Amino acid sequence: MSLLGGLLVWVALGTCAAVVQPPLLPDRSAIVQLFEWTFKEIEEECKNFLGPYGFAGVQTSPINEYIVINPSRPWYERYQPISYKIISRSGNEDEFKKMVETCNKVGVRIFVDVVFNHMSGDAPNARGTGGSPADPKNKYYPAVPYNKSHFHSTCSIESYQNAHEVRNCELVGLRDLDQSQFYVREKIIEYLNHLIDLGVGGFRVDAVKHMWPADVQYIYSKVKSLSTVHGFKAGTKPYIYQEVIDLGGEGIKATEYTDFGSVVDFVYSREVGKAFGGRNQLKWLRSYGTSWGILPSEKSLAFIDNHDNQRDGGEDILSYKRPREYKMANAFMLSWPHGTKRIMSSYDFTERDQGPPHNKDNSIAPVIRKPDMSCGGGWICEHRWRQIYNMVGFNNAVKGTVVKNFWDNGNNQIAYCRGNKGFIAFNGENSNMDVLLQTCLPAGTYCDVISGSRQGNGRCSGKSIIVDSSGMGKINIPRDGEDGVLAIHLNVRV
Ligand SMILES: *[C@@H]1O[C@H](CO)[C@@H](O)[C@H](O)[C@H]1NC(C)=O
Repeated sequence: MSLLGGLLVWVALGTCAAVVQPPLLPDRSAIVQLFEWTFKEIEEECKNFLGPYGFAGVQTSPINEYIVINPSRPWYERYQPISYKIISRSGNEDEFKKMVETCNKVGVRIFVDVVFNHMSGDAPNARGTGGSPADPKNKYYPAVPYNKSHFHSTCSIESYQNAHEVRNCELVGLRDLDQSQFYVREKIIEYLNHLIDLGVGGFRVDAVKHMWPADVQYIYSKVKSLSTVHGFKAGTKPYIYQEVIDLGGEGIKATEYTDFGSVVDFVYSREVGKAFGGRNQLKWLRSYGTSWGILPSEKSLAFIDNHDNQRDGGEDILSYKRPREYKMANAFMLSWPHGTKRIMSSYDFTERDQGPPHNKDNSIAPVIRKPDMSCGGGWICEHRWRQIYNMVGFNNAVKGTVVKNFWDNGNNQIAYCRGNKGFIAFNGENSNMDVLLQTCLPAGTYCDVISGSRQGNGRCSGKSIIVDSSGMGKINIPRDGEDGVLAIHLNVRV
C-alpha cells in the first residue's frame, strides 16, 4: 500500500514537473509568427494592434548574427548563425530591448526563434550581419568563439532512419555543433539567459531533431527563470517549443523531446490542412485529438502553416495562397481546445528562397498598414485579416470551456459549441448550409465575427444571428459566400 502510494506521488510529481504553462496573460492564448519583421515594426504592432486585439505573443525570426548571403538575401540566411550577438536584418540589441519592453507592457510576450544546432554553412569570406568574419570551411567562428574542436566531424545525413546520422552529421552542410561539450553548452546557455534578462517569454528552438535529447534537456535545465523585472512571476520557466518534424516513419520521434518542452506539431498542421483542403471529411474532426497522432494538448504548439511548410509542405498544407480554406482552418484551430496556438504572418512570395520585402539598400521594407486593417508593401499580415483576429477574440472568450453539441451532416458541414460561451459552424461543401442548430448561448442577437465585427455603437457590420430562448439559432452559410464559416460568442452580443 505504502509502496503504491509512493509510486502514485512519484508519477504525479513527474507529470507536473514536465508541464510548463506558457507564461501568457491568463485571458490570452494565441501567438503570431511575425516572419522577418523588424523590431521597430513589431513594437508598433504590439502597441497598436496585438495588445488591443488580445494576442498573447509574438514569435520573432532569429535575431542573432547570421551569414549575409549576397546578392539575394534569402530568408534562410537567418538559419545560419555566425555569432550570438543580437544584430540582424530586424535590428540591433537596443531596438530589440525596447521592443520587448513595449510588448510586455501591453501584455504581448516575445518568443525568439533560436538556432543552436549548427552554425553557418561553407562560404568564402563569410561575414555576419554584424560584420563579424568567419571561416566556415575550417569551422572557425571567432565572434563566439567556436573553433573546429567544438563541432562534430563532417558527414552528411544519408538516412533519416539513422538517429546517429541525423544528430551528428551536417544538416544540408551546416557546421554541426557538438552540444555534449561543456564549452558549447555554456555558450548556448549564455545566449538564452541573455535573452531572458532582456525580458523574453521563451523560445522556439530550431532543428531540435538534429540534437540529442539529453543535450537539449541539459541546456534547458540551466536556463534561468523569466525576469521578474519584466513582469513575470518569480520562478516562471520560459516556454520552450521545439522544432521536431515528425510526420511518422523516421528514426526519431517527437515524443523523445516532450518530457522537457513542447513540440511544434507538424501532424496537427497536416491533418487540419487536409480536412479544410478537401482531402478528408470535416465530420471526422469530431474526435480531433491524440487519436489522430497529434501531441497531447499541453505539449502541442498547434499551427496551420509556418515559414517552412508554407513553402515545402506539399498539397496538405494550407497557406494564405488558398485564403478561403485557410481562414476556415485557422477558425477551427482557434475554436478547438487543443494546444498553444500559433498564427502565421507571411510576406508574399513567388519563389521559395525569396527574402522579405526590402528597400534598395537591402534593409527590410516597411509594413504598410491600410485603413481597412490589411497590409500592403508585400506583407500579407494574415493576423490582420478580420476572420483571423476576430477568432483570436473568440479563442480568448471561450477559454476554459469544452466542446459540446458537435453536429455534422454526415459529410463536410459541422458545428459545435464551446461550453455556453461560443458557437461555430463550417460549411465545407459545394451546397448551401441552412439549418436550425443548438448554439448553447443565452437568447439574444449575436454578431458573426467572420462576416463582420461588433461595432462600438453596438451594431454588427456582418450577419446577425438570432438565438431563441431554447438556444436555437438559424445558421445559414451559402456555398458561394466569401467565407465558409460563421462564429458567435458571448462578447459579441448586440
Ligand atoms: C579551440 O577553443 C578552445 C576553447 O576556447 C581552446 O581551448 C582550444 O585550444 C581551441 N582549439 C583550436 C584548435 O584552436
